Formats: sequence, C-alpha cells, structure tokens
Amino acid sequence: PIHGSLSGKKVIVTAGGTREPLDPVRYLTNHSSGKMGFAVAAAAKQAGADVTLIAANPFISAPNGVHVINIETANELLKAVEAQFVHADILVMAAAVADYRPATVSDKKIKKTTDNETMTLKLVRNPDILKEISSIKKPGQVVVGFAAETNDLISNAQKKIKSKNLDLIVANDVSQAGIGFNADDNQVTFLFADGRKDKTPVESKKQVAAKLVEIISKEIQK
Ligand code: PMT
Repeated sequence: PIHGSLSGKKVIVTAGGTREPLDPVRYLTNHSSGKMGFAVAAAAKQAGADVTLIAANPFISAPNGVHVINIETANELLKAVEAQFVHADILVMAAAVADYRPATVSDKKIKKTTDNETMTLKLVRNPDILKEISSIKKPGQVVVGFAAETNDLISNAQKKIKSKNLDLIVANDVSQAGIGFNADDNQVTFLFADGRKDKTPVESKKQVAAKLVEIISKEIQK
C-alpha cells in the first residue's frame, strides 16, 4: 500500500542506464536495469500521479498506465528531461547517467590492427542533467536524485545534494551484493536538504519506492 497521495501531480521519473556509442556496434554503459526507477514510477502512479517514465535501455518492461519515453544517451536524456520538467511538479532521477562519452563516434566498426596491442579511448564530459535542471527549477517543484556510491556513501551523497541543488537524495551503496544495480532489493538512506537522514532495511525496490513516494507526498505539501 502507498501512504500519501500524489493526485493531480505530474511526476517525471528517469530509469535505466545510458548508452554512449563508440561505433555502430559498441557502446559504454553501466549495470542499471531500470528496476528501481520503474518501481518509483509504479508507486507514483498508484498514489494517483500522472507519471512520465523516461527510460534508458531498461532490462524489464514498463509498468502499466505510465507514459514512456525511450532514450539511449545522456544527451537524449537531458533533452527529454528538460522538455518534460517545465510541466512537472516532481522529478525523480533514478537513471544511471554516464558522466563521460566517447569524444568521437565512428560511423564504421572500429577495427583491430595487428600491430596495436593497446587502444586508448578519449572521453568527454556529458552534461550533468540535475545541474542543468537546477537552473530552471521553480519554487514548489521537488527534485529528487539518487546517489550510487561504492565508498563514503553519506558524505558523497551529501555533497551531491548541494552541488545538484536537490530537495532529497536517495543514497545507495552499490558495493554490496544483493542490493543496488540489477538486484530486486535495495537498501537506501534518504538524505534531506535540511540534514534529516532516514536509513531503510534491505527490502524490495517496490517497498523502497513506496517509502520514497510517501516522503515526496509530504514534501510537496510543504
Ligand atoms: O536500475 P537498477 O538496476 O534498479 O539500479 C538502481 C540504481 C543503482 C541505478 C539506482 O538506485 C541509482 O542509484 N541511480 C543513480 C545512479 C547514478 O548515476 O548515480 P550518481 O551518483 O552517478 O549520480 C547522482 C545523481 O545525478 C543521480 O540522480 C543521477 O541520475 C544524476 N546524474 C548523474 C550524472 C549526470 N551526468 N547527470 C545526472 O543528472
């Protein structure tokens, strides 16, 4: 059951991992399955929201009753989020976004050569979507980030609240087996901009999503 209502609210959720192409057959990506973001989209829908799910290469199919926009790269994700955010009350960024992409995309398959034992890839920075959104955020809009960390979970996540101007960040330790990327369960700490902290037990991503939606429904009433 979902406690709290998002009735009449427009919610944007991003999920999955971006793909950054190298050539027509290869790309750089990460282990995000989309499960966490899809669970958030389903919980927000259940709470009565009008939900748009921006999906980056998910491993699973989308929940019923939500609008789905499929994208592949970080740049495509930025464009889609910017277009949707102007009409939104709430943005939840659960997508795992590549911080860098290949500097050039070859239009032909990159070939190995007999004399080259190593190959160096040049990468360039992708836009930080949450930072871009922060500059167009209006009073009353709620922006929630996730933080995927392998070390110094709380301090790294706290830095991201400030640098990305978030109302809330959901910190998850992605070094533990059974939670985080591609798992059915997660364990998170909700960190608020005002310093409040709330750690959950290991539980299903659906349960984590229900808690997040409950928290957001309280924040939006403030
Ligand atoms: O999809 P699953 O398999 O269920 O896995 C869930 C998850 C581990 C991917 C998810 O719970 C999670 O932690 N998502 C955030 C992953 C991530 O990119 O974390 P980050 O710490 O690198 O980024 C912090 C925040 O900034 C995130 O909200 C991210 O969406 C956002 N970001 C990151 C980079 C970038 N260039 N622009 C961004 O807006």
